[in-house]
Amino acid sequence: MSYSQNYDVLIIGSGGAGLSLALKLANYSIRVAVLSKFALTAGSTYYAQGGISAVFDAGDSIDSHIEDTLDAGAGLCDPEIVRLTVTHGKSSIDWLRKQGVIFTQEQTKSGETRLHLNQEGGHSHRRIVHTADATGKAVSLSLIERAQEHPNIELFEHYNVVELITTPNAGHTGKQVIGAYVLDSKKQLVKTMAARVVVLATGGASKVYLYSTNPQSSTGDGIALAWRAGCRISNMEFMQFHPTCLYHPNARSFLISEAVRGEGGRLILPDGSSFMHKVDPRAELAPRDIVARAIDLEIKKRGIDCVYLDISHKSKRFILEHFPTIYQECLKFDIDITKQPIPVVPAAHYTCGGILTDSYARTDIANLYAIGEVASTGLHGANRMASNSLLECLVFAERASEDILLKLPHISELPIIPDWDESQVSDSDEEVVVAHNWNELRHFMWDYVGIVRTDKRLSRAMSRVELLNKEIAEYYNNFRVTSDLLELRNLVIIAELIIRCAQKRKESRGLHYTLDYPETDNSKPPQNTILTPDR
Ligand code: FAD
Ligand code: SIN
Repeated sequence: MSYSQNYDVLIIGSGGAGLSLALKLANYSIRVAVLSKFALTAGSTYYAQGGISAVFDAGDSIDSHIEDTLDAGAGLCDPEIVRLTVTHGKSSIDWLRKQGVIFTQEQTKSGETRLHLNQEGGHSHRRIVHTADATGKAVSLSLIERAQEHPNIELFEHYNVVELITTPNAGHTGKQVIGAYVLDSKKQLVKTMAARVVVLATGGASKVYLYSTNPQSSTGDGIALAWRAGCRISNMEFMQFHPTCLYHPNARSFLISEAVRGEGGRLILPDGSSFMHKVDPRAELAPRDIVARAIDLEIKKRGIDCVYLDISHKSKRFILEHFPTIYQECLKFDIDITKQPIPVVPAAHYTCGGILTDSYARTDIANLYAIGEVASTGLHGANRMASNSLLECLVFAERASEDILLKLPHISELPIIPDWDESQVSDSDEEVVVAHNWNELRHFMWDYVGIVRTDKRLSRAMSRVELLNKEIAEYYNNFRVTSDLLELRNLVIIAELIIRCAQKRKESRGLHYTLDYPETDNSKPPQNTILTPDR
């Protein structure tokens, strides 16, 4: 009946969202713990390539950034949230520069130095601030360094959250979060971490699909934890598929940035002909849903494995300066992008839906916040525009910090929390069940709940989810938890939430495309899909 550890604020996730919030709070003498289920660099943030959208160009405007975001979001963005986010673009970049992030600059003709801005799909201006093609690495390493040197921040690697602790599940009245049970994966021990405020910053859920650009950590844990604890979840049908993931039998999850198309990269078929101009006047720079669907259609129609992205018409010097990481990675597979086109396929990339939050990142449970990709703020609507995600991480870390600083003095002492009970479980004797179910889940999600859906495919997928749910619940109740089991248990919930949201939407909109309802329903105002836990 004791706490292993006790903090003011427990932040689950060490990506752009979690670390930004930790740094913003820690200067106010608040004791902050930040957890990562693997290494501190494990999340998607470290792998971000293109950059962060913000209005810097003299010919650009806040209104234009808002309009592009609303257009990409296909009628479902919350205009207030879009304005709030976009107006904080410049201050967010300034804050990152103060943390030590170095962005790529250029010299103007008059000899001035200014930020170099990338162009990406859906944006009508150059407005992507970046560090060559490895923006996420620059952001992640600077934030980790600042956090490591801060006396009020404690960082925990290989700490995997098993379950949130709320007053009802600790045997008390009310509905408030008071901590989390956490598996210390190195010691194989479940610890109790108590906190007056808990923040979910666990990233997205794209690993529910067989092919994904995301790192291993993106298993939707935060969404599943919040759902089990009683939060509403919204818009999970809008899973974003990035059009260009490197296609090679030995390459795992390597993204070819949209900035390559922004600098003139052309999508071509095996015979060298281009096709995007036939689909959308913006051709290669149409929003992602349109480009990914066009590629998927060509692949299926022609029975080919992939299409190609060609930037080889640019000089070698230009390519090496702008895309050094992509150049090096492709070279490992004997693809010299200065001389030949890159084989690419779409892959699951970003979770537009998630935990329903308000404009201060508050969830349905008192003192529980959600920021970054795990949240559904209303910014992205039915389709996220490129490079708006890192911006959202920064802006909502700031918003959450403002609210937490006001709230913390009014949160009373924490009640007693029972320790994690392992008295009824034993070590698993059949780990193969976890591996098998994990594979099965990702395969049927790719085949039945991918870029193009139908009612029949969705109901087929749901029957399989129901079976897996039963099997995994039984396994979880009988055996000691492991990281793999925790991820699988969360992924099955994610699959269920995606399918349930997709089944509710009887139209095609943004990233949700179904052959049974191929048109967008413009007969009534667009609605978000909101799921409420039954309790
Ligand atoms: P993440 O950075 O994913 O961090 C999640 C953290 O949560 C990790 O520390 C993880 O260990 C931890 N965690 C998860 N589950 C648990 C658990 N159960 N217990 C404890 N810890 C847990 N967006 C842009 O705006 N611009 C780009 O250029 C861009 N490029 C991208 C390129 C790639 C290859 C990918 C994959 C994404 C890209 N995105 C980009 C999207 C963007 O990177 C992410 O949306 C964003 O970084 C998410 O940040 P986050 O802090 O919410 O989560
Ligand atoms: C990319 O560089 O193409 C990724 C940008 C994003 O996902 O926002």
